[in-house]
Amino acid sequence: MSQGIENKVVVIVGASSGLGEALARRLHKDGAKLVLGARRLDRLVKIAEELSLSKDAILKTDVTDPQQVQALVDRAVSHYGRIDVIVNNAGLMPHSLLERRKFDDWNAMIDVNLKGVLYGIAAALPYMKEQKSGHIINTSSVAGHKVRPGSAVYAATKTAVRVISEGLRQEVKPYNIRTTIISPGAVTSELADSITEPDVAKNIKQFYEDTAISAESFASVVAFAISQPEDVDINEILFRPTRQEL
Ligand SMILES: NC(=O)c1ccc[n+]([C@@H]2O[C@H](COP(=O)([O-])OP(=O)(O)OC[C@H]3O[C@@H](n4cnc5c(N)ncnc54)[C@H](OP(=O)(O)O)[C@@H]3O)[C@@H](O)[C@H]2O)c1
Repeated sequence: MSQGIENKVVVIVGASSGLGEALARRLHKDGAKLVLGARRLDRLVKIAEELSLSKDAILKTDVTDPQQVQALVDRAVSHYGRIDVIVNNAGLMPHSLLERRKFDDWNAMIDVNLKGVLYGIAAALPYMKEQKSGHIINTSSVAGHKVRPGSAVYAATKTAVRVISEGLRQEVKPYNIRTTIISPGAVTSELADSITEPDVAKNIKQFYEDTAISAESFASVVAFAISQPEDVDINEILFRPTRQEL
């Protein structure tokens, strides 16, 4: 159990693997009440079984559909009576050079990484306004600070997440709502599986093998932000593996 986390109602969007899954496990240990969303229900069922969560704590959710994101947030409120934290963490990273004209990958990144975050904000904000409390945490990336060849669209979506979060931070001042951007470097997860170009996937997977740190790093950073006293608003945390250069 952890002070500042215990009994908080936390919705994690994109909780079925990688960073979101590690966060769910950590916050469960710290005594949070969880509601987990993602498309792969089988993964969510397995996590819920392992953590002995009720079946109401998981919901199949595709963040490209605002109604499904709303249903996930509504589930938290109908089941627990409130929502204290939403972590908009769903994302994918199909890197490739722009010259490869990967229209489907570009659209998917914009729909999931960018519009999915907006839908999460839209779903949680009315409840948090009413409560006059809440915490909206959005997963950006080192790519929200730096662009490299092959990462232009991904970096654009992650930069947008930071810009939206900062706009949100200023807008929600009257409602006592906190906002946090988490910008991780290379962290072990299934993210590279979303790369559709085999040569790019090979290079990035090698980079992750050489560089990435465990997903618990993300979980502990998020737990730090959540556990602060209510009058302390951690606005952004950028972290990397110690060995990561860029
Ligand atoms: N790993 C890193 O090095 C790193 C670094 C910086 C930022 N990030 C960011 O961290 C976040 C989590 O990624 P990860 O690294 O943990 O990769 P991951 O293991 O592939 O997890 C991605 C999560 O997003 C969910 N997701 C993807 N598309 C979705 C959709 N349409 N609707 C709902 N959920 C969806 C996935 O669930 P389903 O497939 O079951 O829907 C999964 O739970 C992403 O935003 C990523 O950009 C990761």
